[in-house]
Amino acid sequence: MRLNPAQITCDTTRVTVVGSGNVGSALAQRLVEKNIANVVLLDIVEGRPQGLALDLIQARGIEGHDRQIIGTNDYADTAGSQVIVITAGLPRKPGMSRDDLMLTNGKIVLDVANRAIAHSPDAIFIVVTNPLDQMTHLTWRATGLPVHQVMGMAGVLDSARFQAFIAMELGVSTSDIHATVLGSHGDLMVPLPRYTTVNGIPITELMDAAAIERLVQRTRRGGAEIVDLMKTASAFYAPASSTCAMVECILYNQPRILPVTTYLQGEYGLKDMFAGVPCRLSCRGIDSVFELSLTDAELNALHESAHASQNGIDRLEQLLADYQLT
Ligand code: NAI
Ligand code: 2OP
Repeated sequence: MRLNPAQITCDTTRVTVVGSGNVGSALAQRLVEKNIANVVLLDIVEGRPQGLALDLIQARGIEGHDRQIIGTNDYADTAGSQVIVITAGLPRKPGMSRDDLMLTNGKIVLDVANRAIAHSPDAIFIVVTNPLDQMTHLTWRATGLPVHQVMGMAGVLDSARFQAFIAMELGVSTSDIHATVLGSHGDLMVPLPRYTTVNGIPITELMDAAAIERLVQRTRRGGAEIVDLMKTASAFYAPASSTCAMVECILYNQPRILPVTTYLQGEYGLKDMFAGVPCRLSCRGIDSVFELSLTDAELNALHESAHASQNGIDRLEQLLADYQLT
């Protein structure tokens, strides 16, 4: 018997990226060129994911990998994915908050999650689309998956931004810095200087309070600063890198403790809501949530941040009702 080589798939690590815009296409590129996974890139726009897939395939020889890349508009092609990343939806334009995207992206994300879960019932979902905390909540409700299999990407990105700004300020290597940012992915996110170190030295020992506050504020506006510069698009390289790091942990069971948007069930005094906190990620998804010891001010800031996005979720009840998910 002879098989057509084009039909042979030994697809042990399949990641579907829904939305082949800036973040989705950069993520697909990272995943295949770092030899992490075979990728199915799906978009509602006909031709775009197919064209991007062909472009990535044509770069394979130069980049030195043989990863499979499928571009498609059909969810049947996503079947059997271990991880599904949702990047479908609109990005911010200058002057827009992430919440301005709520209803438009809510409809898109509910639709995407429903279709994707039908073909990959055991997948782990990583949500990127904004407003992040609310879209992660919708995905959890739409898929009906256990909470450890649905998470949002924000804390890895926000921490990476804090890390980058500290490195620039101190003139040291970025890799020496370990930064921690908790809370929702919005202007009320909670960078934690006490838990941010340069090779173990807290930054509170290396910078004065005014400098730290300046970097905290720059981190909170990290995404907006890029939107203001680019005008018609928002950040995508660092978001793609952050998501790629989470996918790698999950696919290769390389457990890491990372800030991840997860469903809280009493941790930090927060119940039945999504917020970014340190989690242990592994092949199961979120294995455990770690409770840091916080000062009253830090805990209040975390509560304010989480409750602000919880207020937003109330506005999505009608959407959930339309999908008969209430
Ligand atoms: P983009 O506009 O470049 O790409 C979005 C893609 O989604 C487009 O290709 C569009 O055709 C596609 N799309 C729209 N509706 C769809 C549907 N129903 N099914 C499948 N595909 C659909 O936007 P970009 O820059 O890639 O950002 C994507 C989302 O990620 C935005 O909501 C943005 O705000 C968010 N984001 C979140 C970050 C985070 O830290 N969580 C960081 C960066 C972006
Ligand atoms: C960011 O932080 C827009 O949420 C996106 O870059």
